[in-house]
Amino acid sequence: MDNNFSLSALIRSRRSTRRFQEQSVSRALLLQCVEAARLAPSAENSQPWRFFIVDDPACKDTLAQKAFGGVFLPTRWAAAAPVLVVLCLQTDSIAKRMASKVAGTTFSMIDIGIAGEHFCLQAEELGLGTCWIGWFDKKGAQQALKLDKRFQPVIMLAVGYPLDSNRRPGKRKDLDEICFFNQGEKPPHLPPS
Ligand SMILES: Cc1cc2nc3c(=O)[nH]c(=O)nc-3n(C[C@H](O)[C@H](O)[C@H](O)COP(=O)(O)O)c2cc1C
Repeated sequence: MDNNFSLSALIRSRRSTRRFQEQSVSRALLLQCVEAARLAPSAENSQPWRFFIVDDPACKDTLAQKAFGGVFLPTRWAAAAPVLVVLCLQTDSIAKRMASKVAGTTFSMIDIGIAGEHFCLQAEELGLGTCWIGWFDKKGAQQALKLDKRFQPVIMLAVGYPLDSNRRPGKRKDLDEICFFNQGEKPPHLPPS
């Protein structure tokens, strides 16, 4: 299978989208993206992610004002996205937090990252552009959406139809800079994809 919707093609075509058409995004499509995220793996199958989808313009304005002010002003571009998704961590039991402390890795953040990328790749297949946003005021977002304290904003996703279809690919490190076999052998050269 080597068509435009193969996983390999989607991984290669996805780019961060920061300029969007004004066209709104249907809730059916947004839910398809959340459905893809819902199927993501998570430590102990804890599924700690909660997706708060903001598609109402007035609510989005409130969110943008609270989340993209002061030092977070560079993220103001995202206010023009038709949809902002605030990806929250549903706070764990003390036992789970202790387990990830003992293992030395915050599993819940990994879980959120996997689910978020499932969302983004599904969006790509549907012709939607996305951009991860880490640079925002988390307390401000929590206030704007009147979120219960149990839900901690971790990351946002801007979603919409891309304005420019010729978005340039981001630069990436070479394979032999990031991949090692056994005790440090470099990987064999792969044919270009
Ligand atoms: C966890 C995370 C946080 C990010 N935060 C921001 C952000 O706050 N603002 C922004 O414009 N891009 C943000 N990005 C997008 C990255 O800048 C982008 O993925 C990277 O430059 C590679 O470009 P590409 O996505 O087009 O391949 C973030 C990406 C990730 C994965």
